[in-house]
Amino acid sequence: MASGEAIGPKNFPAGFLWGAATASYQIEGAWNEDGKGEGIWDRFAHTPGKIQNGDTGDLSCDHYHRWQQDLRLMQELGLKAYRFSISWPRVIPQGSGQVNGKGLDFYDRLVDGLLEAGIAPFITLYHWDLPQALQAKGGWTARDTAYAFAEYADVMAKRLGDRVDNWITFNEPWVAAFLGHLYGEHAPGLKEPKAAFAAAHHQLLAHGLAVPALRARCKSQAQIGITLDLTPAEPATTSEADNEAALRADKFKNRWFLDPIYRGTYPEGVAERLGGAPLPIQANDLQLISAPLDFLGVNYYSRTIARDDSARGGSDTAHLRLEKVERTEMGWEIYPAGLYDLLTRLHHDYKPNRLYITENGAAFADQVDSDGEIDDSRRVAFLRDHFSAAQQAIRAGVPLEGYFVWSLLDNFEWAWGFSKRFGLIYLDYKTLQRTIKRSGYFYKAVIAANAIE
Ligand code: FCB
Repeated sequence: MASGEAIGPKNFPAGFLWGAATASYQIEGAWNEDGKGEGIWDRFAHTPGKIQNGDTGDLSCDHYHRWQQDLRLMQELGLKAYRFSISWPRVIPQGSGQVNGKGLDFYDRLVDGLLEAGIAPFITLYHWDLPQALQAKGGWTARDTAYAFAEYADVMAKRLGDRVDNWITFNEPWVAAFLGHLYGEHAPGLKEPKAAFAAAHHQLLAHGLAVPALRARCKSQAQIGITLDLTPAEPATTSEADNEAALRADKFKNRWFLDPIYRGTYPEGVAERLGGAPLPIQANDLQLISAPLDFLGVNYYSRTIARDDSARGGSDTAHLRLEKVERTEMGWEIYPAGLYDLLTRLHHDYKPNRLYITENGAAFADQVDSDGEIDDSRRVAFLRDHFSAAQQAIRAGVPLEGYFVWSLLDNFEWAWGFSKRFGLIYLDYKTLQRTIKRSGYFYKAVIAANAIE
């Protein structure tokens, strides 16, 4: 790949991997078909009151049955790569032991279809749908779940390792650990600090165990990485107290996963401050967790502004909501400069061999106009500005090799159900009809030119 310095102000290096991302529970549907086991998101979504409007992923985009149509849409957009996740309970219904052949066949066909279309598959092994049978035994709070994950990674690598070269062990372990076990907003819906920190550690351990399992089965050129949700934390003012608050926010949100993976240590003070200590660490865990990786996947959506409110009777690490800034439907500030700051910081502090943006995108209240078109000009602007920030980071020397827009198509947005639309493709949830939005056509032009149009 050409060096970042050799490219002009709007171009991307030759071979830059433009892609789109999805996740199994968010798009597949077919929640109990062909031998699939129950997952924790099936259980959570079927529990009244957990998901907006009572939505579930039972049918969702019905991608399980309509994947060929979705593949044609990817071809229409000109995607070079597609990031999707495997549903663990679809392939190993009880989490360990018996493998479900029909579940494996589904991913096998999808991979072959992608390869025939010249689209590189990027597989995420864990995008939050843990088999419920493992949850019943403690889920991520139990160390055994990490060993079950390594077994599952081995099953997948054995089946697909001859054709798939790009593997992501975990998607956003911070969210699965803390939204799932501390804040209770995601499955399994706990609010227990110790459980949350145990879930974080056991996911990292599972990652550390899976990397050698994948390397043993896949081809020598296979690239293995992990995807983290990273949010730059900036101090609200230049005061010492706010500065400290920003450092605390950064330790919890970003360094809690970056440090063990790249330095083999956990940042000090975090688990103690949040009630998660002592961590269930055993000898050699951190050595496994910090084994070399081929790439880091970055999910970037926004930044946070930290403030010490303790003198005002509030939290020592409060999050300031800025007035008069542009926000997406999620309420997240639109802040493309944060992507540049984040990428250059990661390059400087952690030096990953290479990086991919494995998710970036925005929810807006899309409308179908009288011609049946979706003119999502705000999403076009959002993407253009973020592509530009990424391009500047490349020119500053960051080894960024690809960009996956979240998401290929509108889908089940976790606790928000179908109320938030992130897609390049619009989904009519009544008819399941797909329509490429203006942002999809914009993206198609960017990909074709390998430059910001
Ligand atoms: C990320 C998730 C992804 C999607 C986007 C909007 O946290 O990885 O599944 O929900 O947010």
